[in-house]
Amino acid sequence: MTLPLPPGARTPDRAVWINGQLVRGDDAVLSVFDRGARDGGAIFETIRVYAGRPFAWERHMERLVLAAAELGFPVPPAPARLRDAVGELMVSQGMTDAVVRLTVTRGIAGGRPTRTGAWIEAESVTSRLWAGQRESAASAIVSPQPFEPGFLGRYKTTSRLAWDLAREQARAAGVDETLLLSPTGQLLEGAASNVFVVKAGEVRTPPVSLNVLPGVTRAIVFALCAELQIPAREAILSTDDLRDADEVFLTNSVQEVLPVATLDRRPLPGRALGLCLLEAFRARVASFANQP
Ligand SMILES: Cc1ncc(COP(=O)(O)O)c(C=O)c1O
Repeated sequence: MTLPLPPGARTPDRAVWINGQLVRGDDAVLSVFDRGARDGGAIFETIRVYAGRPFAWERHMERLVLAAAELGFPVPPAPARLRDAVGELMVSQGMTDAVVRLTVTRGIAGGRPTRTGAWIEAESVTSRLWAGQRESAASAIVSPQPFEPGFLGRYKTTSRLAWDLAREQARAAGVDETLLLSPTGQLLEGAASNVFVVKAGEVRTPPVSLNVLPGVTRAIVFALCAELQIPAREAILSTDDLRDADEVFLTNSVQEVLPVATLDRRPLPGRALGLCLLEAFRARVASFANQP
């Protein structure tokens, strides 16, 4: 039985692949007994699809499957099954470029074997881009509140309220992103991105050992730096490093590589290296999208 939604409530009328079926809007339902619905017990991946192909698919699947194993989830659907599902969803929506979110839950406790729940959604890219992405000149603030990710920070779980509230600070300040600092003043990441600091031609980013997300785009940026012979390493960074930075840039799968133009309303000295890495990233995307 489907109960009517409360007056005024509206479910987006788009196609969703859920547990093996393509459905629309209100028909995309998850059991209240699923731990993904009850306890934030789910992991997800957000993936850009370019010209009908999910970019860095293997890296995203590796992170998802590893997270499921390390967090004791039931076995998720096979990556090949999920890949087919992304294809079906894109075709049903008539989309070739999109932001796809793929969620895998811990399933309903007690059943044997316990199955994960899984669903996939696709949204238009433009609705997801930050204002600063259009000009490759983002604005960011440093959160005034210290942030403690805990070990779950290394995983892309749906237990995201702390990160979402940090992003609200950016929205309230009219900027693109909030940078997070640990209680001892170590730079961590953005509320929805990894952060890189450039000083004297060297690219540095906080280590994953601080419980930041091992971003897929972060890893690709490291690979691009190696190709372009740009020195890059993980490093403990502070607000002083941000203040003295020649450049700061952000990465995530949707915004790609995003140079920061202003930090706490003050202009940063430059964006050249960030723009160079963005260009290299887009060249990689273009050659991927144009593969026969
Ligand atoms: C907190 C956080 N850090 C980093 C990232 C970047 O990860 P990826 O490059 O895999 O999209 C994200 C992505 O949404 C994020 O939410």
